[in-house]
Amino acid sequence: VDADGTRVFSLEARAGTTEFAPGVASETWGFDGSYLGPTLVADRGERVRVDVANALDESTTVHWHGMHLPPEMDGGPHQMVEPGGTWSPEWAIDQPATTLWYHPHPHGETESHVARGLAGMFLLHDEAERALGLPSEYGVDDLPVIVQDAGFSADGRKEDTQRGYAGGLGDELLVNGTRGPFVEVSDELVRLRLLNASTARSYAFAWGDGRPVELIGTDGGLLEASASLDHVRLSPGERAEVLLRVAPGERVVLQSRMTPEIAALDGPVAVMNGGTDEFDVLEVRAAEQLDPSPAPPATLVDVPDLDPSEVAADRRFVLGDSFEINGHAMEMGRIDETVTVGTLERWTVVNDTSLPHSFHVHDVQFRIASIDGQAPPPELAGWKDTIFADPETEYELLMRFEDYADPDTPYMYHCHLLWHEDQGMMGQFAVV
Ligand code: C2O
Ligand code: CU
Ligand code: CU
Repeated sequence: VDADGTRVFSLEARAGTTEFAPGVASETWGFDGSYLGPTLVADRGERVRVDVANALDESTTVHWHGMHLPPEMDGGPHQMVEPGGTWSPEWAIDQPATTLWYHPHPHGETESHVARGLAGMFLLHDEAERALGLPSEYGVDDLPVIVQDAGFSADGRKEDTQRGYAGGLGDELLVNGTRGPFVEVSDELVRLRLLNASTARSYAFAWGDGRPVELIGTDGGLLEASASLDHVRLSPGERAEVLLRVAPGERVVLQSRMTPEIAALDGPVAVMNGGTDEFDVLEVRAAEQLDPSPAPPATLVDVPDLDPSEVAADRRFVLGDSFEINGHAMEMGRIDETVTVGTLERWTVVNDTSLPHSFHVHDVQFRIASIDGQAPPPELAGWKDTIFADPETEYELLMRFEDYADPDTPYMYHCHLLWHEDQGMMGQFAVV
C-alpha cells in the first residue's frame, strides 16, 4: 500500500521454461514466473494500481476479466503494452466479493498468449462475505483451481494443440500449472475457486463419488443460497466457487464428466468441442486429523433483482456462422453500440449456429433474465460476466453500466472461445 492508500501490485510478463515433467523443459510464458501468475487480492472500497511490465518480445495486454473499471484501465486490445514497456492502470474496487481473473487480450493473439501461460486470479473480498465465515485462508481452506487443458509430447514437453471447431483442445489437464495434481487439506470444509482458463474446452465438474457439488458463487459474486448440483458446467472464462466437506483421511476426486449439452450434439460437433471427453481434475486428500469448520449459513448474500420494467434499451446480438456477431467481424476502429451510463439494458444474445459459443461482456456483471423464455436454473441466477451459449438458444441478459462514461474508449463483448474471439467474434461498445 503506497502513501495515498493505493494498493499497488506489479506483474511482469516474461518468457521462461517450465518442467511439467521432471527434467523436461517446455518454453512457456508467465507473470513474474515461467507459467501463470500470482493471485492478486483486494478489498471492496480499496484503490488499486497494477504496474504491468512487458518483458516479452511481443506486444501484449493484461485484461481484468469481470472487473468494473474505466475503459482505459480495462486492458483490452486498445491498451497494448509494447515489449520493454510498462502500463499502470488504477481504479477503485467497487463490486461484490468474488473470483475474477486476468489474462492478455491483444487482438488476434489472445488464444496463443493465454495458451502459453499468461493468466492469473484476482480475488475480491468484502464485508458481507467476511461476515459469513466461509473458508478464507488462501491456500489452506480457500483454494485456487485454475483448470487448463494442454497437449504434451510423449516425453512431457508442452505442445501446441490441434484445432477443432472450438479451437485448440489438449488431451491432458493442468491445475495451477501442475500435471496429475492433488491437494492436502486439514480443515473439514474447503472452498474451491474453479476457473476455466482453457482457451476452448468446457467442463462439467463433478465429484468422483457422486456427492452433489455445493455451488456458492458464480462469476461476479456469491449466490443468495448455495445450490446442490449434479455438476457445474464452466465454459472458458467462467468461474464457480464450491464448498467441499471432507471426512478424516478421505480422498475425493474432482472430475470433469462428459458435458451433457455438448455430448448431445452431432457426432463431430460434440467431439471437436470436447463434449465427449472425461478427466480426473484434482484429488483432494484430507488429513487424518481435521480442524473443525462451522457449517456455512443457509443464506449467503443479498442478490438484488434487476427490474425489467426499467429497461431503457434493448439490443440484440446474433452469433453467426463465420465467427461474426450481427453479421460482421470485429474492427478496432468501429464502435458497434453506444450505451447510456447508469441505465438498465437488456441484451438478447442469440446463438444462431449449430456450434457452442459463449458471450462475455466487459466492465459489468449481468443477470440472466431468461434462457429460451425460461427462468435460469439456480446456478445461472447470480452475477455473471460470461455465459455458455448453447446452439440455437436465446439468452436475455440484464445489465447496468455504471460510473464510467468515455465516448472514445470502447469496451468489448465477445465469444470467450479464444480462437473464435481472435477470428473476430467480438464487438465494441462505448458508455457515454
Ligand atoms: Cu476474459 Cu474480453 O475477456
Ligand atoms: Cu473480460
Ligand atoms: Cu464462439
